[in-house]
Amino acid sequence: MKAFHVEGSEKTENIVWHDHAVSTQERISLKMQQPAILWFTGLSGSGKSTIANAVERKLLTLNKHSYLLDGDNVRHGLNRDLSFTDQDRIENIRRIGEVAKLFVDSGLLVLTAFISPFVSDREQVRKLVSHGQFIEVFIDTPIEVCESRDPKGLYKKARAGDIKHFTGIDSDYEAPSNPEIHLHTDRYLIEECADQVINYLSENGYLSI
Ligand code: ADX
Repeated sequence: MKAFHVEGSEKTENIVWHDHAVSTQERISLKMQQPAILWFTGLSGSGKSTIANAVERKLLTLNKHSYLLDGDNVRHGLNRDLSFTDQDRIENIRRIGEVAKLFVDSGLLVLTAFISPFVSDREQVRKLVSHGQFIEVFIDTPIEVCESRDPKGLYKKARAGDIKHFTGIDSDYEAPSNPEIHLHTDRYLIEECADQVINYLSENGYLSI
């Protein structure tokens, strides 16, 4: 285990949680929305980032406040020390969960686009926030479709053995069994998938106070 996995007392005993002068409820009133995490999960090339971007665009036109945390981008900065071993993927998701929780506290609708292959990690994030603030969005795209799209040429490299631990090839992907939103990207257009997300938010009261 790495140093940052050390749990509990030694690292936190002299640290005190500060309450903010501006409350979450005041932030919610200002933004006129219910904050939540839209947790996109799916294989590489499934369309997570593409659909999340389309959702953000639609939220903007509705005057809703959002932010997208994207796997490839976060791995350039905050998580650039992490690889694709199971252990590092777990740490990747743990950190993103904590960051997403802060964004929720700030009153935003935060969208995350990470493969997040393990059920237990996604459930850990769900537990970080209140009931209803974690919305799992399963981008359900068969691996054959992802592989035929291969937007970054990574499946080709993985098949050739040039990338190890590639999700769906020599690393597991555990699909959600009961996601709040289930999108079939091989049957619907990007815009239609994004509309399904917006409809869910609207019907469940996230876009008003
Ligand atoms: S996760 O499994 O830890 O959630 P994350 O979403 O951050 O993964 O990063 C996945 C992205 O990294 C992929 O879309 C792909 O572009 C790139 N990548 C590089 N190596 C791998 C790999 N071995 N497995 C999966 N994705 C990889």
